[in-house]
Amino acid sequence: MAYDRFGRRLHYLRISVTDHCNLRCVYCMPEDATFMPNSALMTQAEILRLGRLFASVGFDKVRLTGGEPTVRPDIVEIVRGLRAIRGIREITMTTNGILLARLAKPLAEAGLDRVNISLDTLNPAKFRRLTRRGDIEDVIEGIYAAEEAGLKPVKINAVVVRGYNEADVVDLARLTIEHPWQVRFIEMMPFAGATEFQRLMLVTAEQMKARIEANLGKLEPVDGGALRGEARMYRIPGARGEIGFIASVSKPFCAACTRARLTADGRLRLCLLREDEVDLLSPLRRGATDEEMRRLIVNALWRKPWGHGLAQGEVPQDRSMNQIGG
Ligand code: GTP
Ligand code: 5AD
Ligand code: SF4
Repeated sequence: MAYDRFGRRLHYLRISVTDHCNLRCVYCMPEDATFMPNSALMTQAEILRLGRLFASVGFDKVRLTGGEPTVRPDIVEIVRGLRAIRGIREITMTTNGILLARLAKPLAEAGLDRVNISLDTLNPAKFRRLTRRGDIEDVIEGIYAAEEAGLKPVKINAVVVRGYNEADVVDLARLTIEHPWQVRFIEMMPFAGATEFQRLMLVTAEQMKARIEANLGKLEPVDGGALRGEARMYRIPGARGEIGFIASVSKPFCAACTRARLTADGRLRLCLLREDEVDLLSPLRRGATDEEMRRLIVNALWRKPWGHGLAQGEVPQDRSMNQIGG
């Protein structure tokens, strides 16, 4: 079991398998983003070796992220390899859904348990403006394909950006009436690159909820309003699905954090919003033994920072979101 010095048990590993992406969302990366060369990315074998090492110190949940994880040609094989690791109980993925219509079934067959799909609006023109490319129809088809393939419960992630999609929360929330999906609204977090934009265009979870309630009536808290992961969940009375709010900026949930992250280039990132990292890929490539790697990992996890410092104006400047995977 891995613990940090604050007594938090860390058991949820988010692996960014690539920083490349087939979209350019405004809240994530600049339009002219450049990506790492493939040689800097972890190979399939390296991802699986690190997966085994983390499982051996008590990690039981893995989420594959990006960039966009499905643009990796070996993504199905990565899932299959992770599935074979003893101790990993849940394998999930966060994806933009563009390629899911084709990939949902093979991914499910390889052992993926479920997917979280990013969709910030139901309006095709706004989708294009937010993602700077991409066709919303592909995402919608991807959502249905995921459901069909049994990748359930389907969760939809919407980052809300003032001036882009703050009014779209109502239509997105309405989806839960008919569909047994979880639609979760996310506060935009500031990162290097687009920091000013991300600060100025923040819509808080409270503002999102007020807009939904003004249009669809009062929401019922689910689980008495307790945190589920990082989201507080609600329901439109009588709806099949649920609505969640991820208030990373206005109401941090760091005290309950169980996560560690691997960046696309194999650094152990201790907190999404802190620059502290430990290079795991270089020692791995130099031939470190499992025992040496385990010691490196456990010692690094112990030093996980307490939480982010957004309230104090501390914003990570070293990376953009697509290298870390959210
Ligand atoms: P579940 O297993 O379904 O609960 O997934 P998840 O919510 O852990 O993963 P997902 O990738 O869907 O994350 C949703 C959003 O939550 C991300 O886009 C981030 O914006 C935010 N988020 C995830 N992890 C953290 C974290 O450790 N800190 C902060 N501040 N935000 C996070
Ligand atoms: N703030 C909050 N969430 C973000 N994501 C990307 N950039 C940001 C940001 N600045 C989200 C994506 C996806 C997840 C991987 O991270 O929408 O759901
Ligand atoms: Fe790509 Fe996801 Fe970033 Fe959008 S949020 S540009 S889909 S990595």
